[in-house]
Amino acid sequence: MKTFFGLIGAGGHGREVMPMLRKMIEGKNAGLDCELLFVVENLEQETEINGYRAISLKAFFDLEGTKRFNIAIGNSSVRQRIAEVCLAQEIEPFALIANSVILLDNNEIGDACMISEQTIITSNVRIGRFFQANCQCNISHDCVIGDYVTFAPGVKCNGNVTIGDHAYIGAGALIKQGQYGKPLMIGAGAVVGMGAVVTKDVAPNTIVVGNPARPMVK
Ligand SMILES: CC(C)(COP(=O)(O)OP(=O)(O)OC[C@H]1O[C@@H](n2cnc3c(N)ncnc32)[C@H](O)[C@@H]1OP(=O)(O)O)[C@@H](O)C(=O)NCCC(=O)NCCS
Repeated sequence: MKTFFGLIGAGGHGREVMPMLRKMIEGKNAGLDCELLFVVENLEQETEINGYRAISLKAFFDLEGTKRFNIAIGNSSVRQRIAEVCLAQEIEPFALIANSVILLDNNEIGDACMISEQTIITSNVRIGRFFQANCQCNISHDCVIGDYVTFAPGVKCNGNVTIGDHAYIGAGALIKQGQYGKPLMIGAGAVVGMGAVVTKDVAPNTIVVGNPARPMVK
């Protein structure tokens, strides 16, 4: 039976991630009868994007065969909503870990992660479901990262940092290490701006920017 790998989202991130998915499938599932396709939630008409078929979410659900999905959408609330719709259809997510990703010892990574090229996750890291890390991120020992967390390109997260669900860490942010038994905490739903240097805990649902990072005042 044919397997369809539906990559939900064909925006910038989706189009960056599709070639990583293709290389991963070629490496691990050579010979599998499969099709990789973009899935765009409310697409009115089937089309082609970068040489791949693009279909609506409904058309994806209607395909005959085995279906697997992951979601290349940075907004974690949208990601969660769409994940719940797919899981309710009993479609299993797949993990996307680019071939150049380095994972060292004893990491636990939840379902449906999407980890892009040249990211390094060292040892004893725990990460929840539907985590996204863009290219060239570093995540060091003993970090604990929640569900639906998003790392933009080039985030450097040192050891012993705990990050709550739905937090967003902007491009090139640097996060100082915590201590054993006293991790640096970034609260659920917090946003760390691009280029921020985080030296202290960040409260939940707070936006911080700058060096050292401070709550953003508009
Ligand atoms: C922090 C952030 C969420 C704020 O977004 P926003 O609410 O739309 O903010 P605005 O663009 O309206 O900027 C508000 C003020 O904050 C400043 N600012 C915005 N982002 C900043 C940052 N990362 N560092 C320092 N200052 C920043 C702006 O210059 C502006 O200052 P001003 O009022 O003096 O002109 C956003 O700028 C950011 O950093 N997002 C992450 C982007 C990213 O990593 N993208 C990766 C794509 S793959």
